[in-house]
Amino acid sequence: MKNIIVFAGSNSKTSINKQLATYASGLVENVKTDILDLNDFELPLFGVDLEKKSGIPEPAHQFLKLIKESDGIVLSLAEHNGAYSTAFKNIFDWMSRIEAKTFYGKPMLLMAASPGGRGGASVLAMAQDRFPRHDAHIVETFSLPFFGDNFSEGKIVNKDLNSALKNKVQTFQKAL
Ligand SMILES: Cc1cc2nc3c(=O)[nH]c(=O)nc-3n(C[C@H](O)[C@H](O)[C@H](O)COP(=O)(O)O)c2cc1C
Repeated sequence: MKNIIVFAGSNSKTSINKQLATYASGLVENVKTDILDLNDFELPLFGVDLEKKSGIPEPAHQFLKLIKESDGIVLSLAEHNGAYSTAFKNIFDWMSRIEAKTFYGKPMLLMAASPGGRGGASVLAMAQDRFPRHDAHIVETFSLPFFGDNFSEGKIVNKDLNSALKNKVQTFQKAL
């Protein structure tokens, strides 16, 4: 059975992106899902001086290994000031120092959710531009705006958005 890893680019304990990623991963059939949380991979703030002094911390190696051993990635990015959250950028920077091909060509369903109307459009665009340079194979992207209106009790309640996501999940599934 294929194994997918699922996580949010957020360290919020109530992350809306983790909720979306978890829901989307539940739509993927016949796979083992490993739902990860950045809070379980505690890392100091990346800096070249710290790297020179102490090397790369173990949690960055551990997370990268999970990517490498997976068959696919479901990732939903939080948008902070139009960009990655600090927590995501930090682990991304650390991992990129171990392996520039950070995503190992794994099929990726890339998403973003936000409480407002843009649905994390800026961070999604940033990741779509950047991740392929790190060997990401982005199969589909999905943006969920107005999270508070469109998501309730663990699922998307807006019919059109839900069927759009289901179609994208099917394409992702075929790529696994
Ligand atoms: C520092 C900060 C900056 C933010 N900047 C944006 C932004 O640029 N665009 C946006 O849509 N939401 C922004 N937000 C709101 C986030 O989208 C919201 O907090 C969301 O819940 C983050 O996702 P998460 O719950 O998965 O962490 C910001 C929130 C914080 C705390």
